[in-house]
Amino acid sequence: MPAQTDALSAHLRTSTRTAHDTAETTGFITRLMGGELGVDAYADLAAQQLPVYEALERASARLSGDARVRTLIFDELTRTPSIRQDLEFLFGPEWNGSIDILDEARAYAQRIDEINDVPEYAAHAYTRYLGDLSGGQIIKRMMQRHYGMGDEGLAFYHFEEIPKPKPFKDIYRERLDGLGLTGEELDRAGREAQLAFELNTKLFTALGARH
Ligand code: HEM
Repeated sequence: MPAQTDALSAHLRTSTRTAHDTAETTGFITRLMGGELGVDAYADLAAQQLPVYEALERASARLSGDARVRTLIFDELTRTPSIRQDLEFLFGPEWNGSIDILDEARAYAQRIDEINDVPEYAAHAYTRYLGDLSGGQIIKRMMQRHYGMGDEGLAFYHFEEIPKPKPFKDIYRERLDGLGLTGEELDRAGREAQLAFELNTKLFTALGARH
């Protein structure tokens, strides 16, 4: 069904549009972006991202034997080293003993650890990496504007080898479309991306209760 298989990037975008608006307007994110919280709240968000990206990048390694998954793996997207670098700056050299991972972050990571096929992998990688290259860039600017941060602590949002997000995102969408998913796989990818957004929203809600 070529008409459908061509459309994964569009399908992911439309099936998560509402979920995106919900995630983006969660109280914690709105307050963080509006300058109502502090660097400590941002640091807590950064900490929660560690288990999530460890799981995502474990999934890339676990599924890299699949030629289709390999078309979505870009070394320049790898985020765990940047997160560790940020945590060291934000919490100090003993950061590992200082961060307090929420159950919601563990649940999100656990879901990623369970995935074992191309549609689910594509959904999770799309949700985070394209998000980091999109709204993530706005988050970085807001943290600098409101909380006086420089570049340190924000390495997560800086893609050293991707100077311009737009052309990279276009290539990524082409790769999604090139996976050649069947109609059934396309549906699964859309549902999994919605789940990924929900897991993010639950995490933000838990962060909102803490801050
Ligand atoms: C501070 C909150 C957020 C803001 C301001 C924001 C903003 C944006 C903007 C402006 C775009 C469009 C970029 C473009 O057209 O190239 C975008 C796309 C995207 N965002 Fe967000 N976003 C936020 C939160 C999130 C969250 C929490 C996630 C998921 C965890 C996410 C995932 C995505 C994805 C996957 C896209 C790509 C959509 C597509 O083109 O298919 N965003 N975001």
